[in-house]
Amino acid sequence: MIQRQIDVALGERSYPIYFGTGMTASFAPTCQQHGIPRQVVIITDTTVAQHYLEPLQKHLHHFEFDASSIILPPGEIQKSLSRANVIFTALLQRGIGRKAAIIALGGGVIGDLAGFVAATYQRGITLIQVPTTLLAQVDSSVGGKVAVNHPLGKNMIGAFYQPKFVWIDGQTLQTLPSREVICGLGEVVKYGVVFDAEFFAFLEVNLDAIMKLDQAALMHVQARCCELKARVVAEDEREIGLRAVLNYGHTVGHALEAAGNYRALKHGEAVLLGMAAEAFIAQQMGLLPLDVLERIESFVSRIPLRMKRDALASSKILDAIQRDKKTVDGKTRFVLPVRLGEVRILEGVEPELIRSSLKRAFDLVGKSRSSQ
Ligand SMILES: NC(=O)c1ccc[n+]([C@@H]2O[C@H](COP(=O)([O-])OP(=O)(O)OC[C@H]3O[C@@H](n4cnc5c(N)ncnc54)[C@H](O)[C@@H]3O)[C@@H](O)[C@H]2O)c1
Ligand SMILES: [Zn+2]
Repeated sequence: MIQRQIDVALGERSYPIYFGTGMTASFAPTCQQHGIPRQVVIITDTTVAQHYLEPLQKHLHHFEFDASSIILPPGEIQKSLSRANVIFTALLQRGIGRKAAIIALGGGVIGDLAGFVAATYQRGITLIQVPTTLLAQVDSSVGGKVAVNHPLGKNMIGAFYQPKFVWIDGQTLQTLPSREVICGLGEVVKYGVVFDAEFFAFLEVNLDAIMKLDQAALMHVQARCCELKARVVAEDEREIGLRAVLNYGHTVGHALEAAGNYRALKHGEAVLLGMAAEAFIAQQMGLLPLDVLERIESFVSRIPLRMKRDALASSKILDAIQRDKKTVDGKTRFVLPVRLGEVRILEGVEPELIRSSLKRAFDLVGKSRSSQ
């Protein structure tokens, strides 16, 4: 049953995000209401397929959709041009034409990759996002950024391509490993710090409930994050201005991911540490009061992060920050909090300050372990 709907207002490209639990009963009728073509291809990974593919496919067949599937191995490495090409080949071999739809069933990797395929196959075919990780449900499935990675940089080849609708079934999170819940929390906390002090306070109180996958707490989290993201995307679809604030934690975060060769830390984990580091930078530059820094740090330290610190040399991280695509005219941009609910974009943070912010953020991980 659909319990809630949030709309992303983008003129003729507007679309709804539907929320509920155990929603296979109403997915196909919703496709029909949206005029989704009869021929649909579900792109997913083996882990997600194991849990959710068969029921979804059966349900679609029951409503007379011609639903086939393409199942990939899981992992960030799949987000490549060569993997996209394998999918193009499969679509062509199956004779899939423009009057077909792609259903991206999975986490952010599947959403970004299948979305990229939908954006480019025969100049674009219909896309439906069915995110199954917390990260994808609060962030990547909404807003239309689709991409694959290039050996020289993450998300370097992509497009803005909005789905027809986003379908969030909270129950899919029940099978999500706790490390993936933590990754989703990275983006969730970001919304609190950037836009909404009250939401940040909700997260402080409800962190344990969220970690235990409490349905009510999760539903509030998903809805609030999507509401905030929908608002930002409606105002600045192509990240010319406002949308850039969603990069809080990501200047340092992306560099941490790159320095660890995308193996030492997952995206959400890197963003959590990146947010702590960037909050410290803000406090040291006199922008953020100490008590707010301490709240952010204390929140991050409560999350049991795994980190191979040896794989994360400061020099490598600083190099990666220099190369980041958020660099404009040779200067790296930082999104820095000034209070809970407000950030400022700044350039030219001293390398020495970045170095000390990394040390301080890494020390939080030690704290979370010793307090367990
Ligand atoms: N497009 C955007 O705006 C945007 C925003 C943020 C992140 N991203 C991208 O998202 C990607 C990360 O996404 P992610 O964190 O969802 O990772 P992911 O897609 O790799 O999923 C994580 C793991 O969880 C498994 N999984 C997924 N759903 C499951 C379920 N319900 N039960 C059990 N296992 C499940 C997957 O098989 C995978 O092994 C990155 O590539 C990042 O760049 C994109
Ligand atoms: Zn992110």
